[in-house]
Amino acid sequence: MRYLVLLGLVAFVLGQETSVPRLDGRIVGGEATSIATYPYQISLQLLSTHICGGAIISSDWIITAAHCVVDSPVPSYLSVRAGSSTRNSGGQVYTVVKVISHPSFLTSTLDYDVALLQLSSSISTTNASAISLAASGTGPAANLTAVVTGWGATSEGGSAATTLQVVEVPVISRTDCETAYPLRLTDRMFCAGILGVGGKDACQGDSGGPVVIDGLLYGLVSWGDGCARDDAPGVYTNLQVLRDWISTNSGV
Ligand code: ARG
Repeated sequence: MRYLVLLGLVAFVLGQETSVPRLDGRIVGGEATSIATYPYQISLQLLSTHICGGAIISSDWIITAAHCVVDSPVPSYLSVRAGSSTRNSGGQVYTVVKVISHPSFLTSTLDYDVALLQLSSSISTTNASAISLAASGTGPAANLTAVVTGWGATSEGGSAATTLQVVEVPVISRTDCETAYPLRLTDRMFCAGILGVGGKDACQGDSGGPVVIDGLLYGLVSWGDGCARDDAPGVYTNLQVLRDWISTNSGV
């Protein structure tokens, strides 16, 4: 009898353990925030459904990930919601008139994961303003703090957030990231996260969204194996090496 009670207790505790979500929080491991603090963040929508994030780089140009726009047959299926902390209401919605994906973008490798979106009219709504791009260079130095925002999943395989989320993650050195992703990291990518720990990361639905360091735009959410895993950091489009392409194509 005592055995049975003990067995029951053990089973109960184990059951409790597994029902507790392993990675709690938002984005993954972040917290809810306001668009007033991150007025450059937009929600990119395909036929009025949130698919990705993006950033305002001038009153009529948005930057996002190229993999976010491959499914839209025409630019006008895409729209941008600016000036709202909520992805599905508020702020102002603008139609996309032109999509410029990087000509070297490859879906298979996600190399050159960047696209420029021109809007039908200039953004002029409260809590919506452009962020300055980092100057051209090789990419952010290891250990700098990257601020990542978005409405993506709050856990691997989880559902998208309704309110904008923010998380801070340290930039990981190229050498360390190549170890995590052998033969997959190109010069157009950099990594951020906490190797060996995990718990904080972007996730599905955050793609195309901004990565800001010291008030400048350095990256876009691009890919990762799962989300917030200890051995698989977030991979971001390295905008410093694409700076000239951006100015040539948008004038920004
Ligand atoms: N590709 C994803 C998207 O479309 C973003 C994945 C980012 N993953 C990560 N672990 N950081 O939203």
